[in-house]
Amino acid sequence: MAEGAIAADATRVFPLELDRRYPVVVKGDGAWVEDSAGKRYLDAMSGGSMAATLGHGRRDIIAAGARQAARLAYVHNERLTNPPREQLAAQLVEIAPPGLSRVRFVTGGAEANEMAIQIARAYHVERGESKRWQVISPAQAYHGPTMATLGLTGRPGLQAPFGPYLPRHGHIPPSTWRFDPTGQAALDALDKVLEEVGPENVSAYFCEPITAAALPAYSPPDRFWRGLAERRERHGFLVCFDEVVTGVGRTGQWFAAQKLPLVPDLIATAKGLGAGYAAIGAVLCADAVYQAFAAGSRRFTLGHTWDGAPMSCAVGLKVLDVIRSERLIERVRKIGPGLRDQLAHALQDVAMVREVRGHGFLLGIEYVDPRDGRSFLPPELGVARRIDLTAMEMGVIVYSTMPTRDGFAGDQTLFAPPFTTPETDLSEMVERVAATVRAVAAWVESRLR
Ligand SMILES: Cc1ncc(COP(=O)(O)O)c(C=O)c1O
Repeated sequence: MAEGAIAADATRVFPLELDRRYPVVVKGDGAWVEDSAGKRYLDAMSGGSMAATLGHGRRDIIAAGARQAARLAYVHNERLTNPPREQLAAQLVEIAPPGLSRVRFVTGGAEANEMAIQIARAYHVERGESKRWQVISPAQAYHGPTMATLGLTGRPGLQAPFGPYLPRHGHIPPSTWRFDPTGQAALDALDKVLEEVGPENVSAYFCEPITAAALPAYSPPDRFWRGLAERRERHGFLVCFDEVVTGVGRTGQWFAAQKLPLVPDLIATAKGLGAGYAAIGAVLCADAVYQAFAAGSRRFTLGHTWDGAPMSCAVGLKVLDVIRSERLIERVRKIGPGLRDQLAHALQDVAMVREVRGHGFLLGIEYVDPRDGRSFLPPELGVARRIDLTAMEMGVIVYSTMPTRDGFAGDQTLFAPPFTTPETDLSEMVERVAATVRAVAAWVESRLR
């Protein structure tokens, strides 16, 4: 990787990690990207962040954006609207779960989540329930880097050093094999938090329906979702889904909510809506929520400069068109389970691999200490980082994390290729990832001996 990479402190960029060397990616085509030295990488992370769901170099999407830009690139949304914005909202309502009837555009995932928090809060105020502000959410989550979204997770490691700015919300542990295989402990924890904060003060339950980087491809059992629906009914809070990653096809449905036994009141979505060709996100809003504003103040005026801009909405329209015309939701749904099995099979005799999870093209590998098959790996081994660096050397991009100090998950790898990835490239990704994990597992075993 050395030639096509640049040391963080050798440039003027303020990078995320100052002791990392960053491959300088100069072009992309399909599921491949290439660095400045000509080294090619299989992009098993859809652009690194799961945004580039349709692969790189899509001339049709670029052309749709360019056509709109030539006609009208930008107008603001507060006093003006534009055809792509109107059309994209209408199309999102068509593909959304039933009852979600209004769309507010934003420019990214954290903005979508933050706006969902604001809409939920304003909804209660509109209805005269102004005490409701608290949000309850799973602790092991990531909803974005803004203050409100950082405040939604229960992860001290993610929140430091911003704690003083963050509101204190209630959290519940994940229903993983380690903590709560049935989902009942999570419901009990939810009841406990409701009791502590007082259900009359709760605005929303906020979560990813299927988790991305924080706990790859995890979703609580059905029992939890049914219990949540029942508590929503009883206590009157809203359910908000962060579908920033899962929205627009990633799990083999338009929205992951469509796989679950309850319909959320708000859905925040982003990445796959622009597919890496435009910065666009959206909040989808249940009709009942919208009606509170319609019957109340008739205003919700918070917004950003780029919300609903014609050029980004034109890209969003083309993204939906490509997904429909190439039948990509069906493809992800059909191929996803086999891809998970392929990955699980390739890793089946690696003692460090505890679980391979998958929902469509959102897959995750969970590692444990090979000595007992269940403890977190010792953090000082830095397994997640070693996996990603080794993968890069092997020419495949994955995304691993080590939230061990937060107490809910250890080292883990996310694998989320573009929906358009040819099957030969998918197999090659699996092979390279398996070779990576094997190499790192051998190193780990030598260190633990
Ligand atoms: C589940 C989830 N929510 C929210 C976000 C934040 O989105 P953005 O980076 O577009 O603000 C991310 C980003 O990775 C995410 O994975």
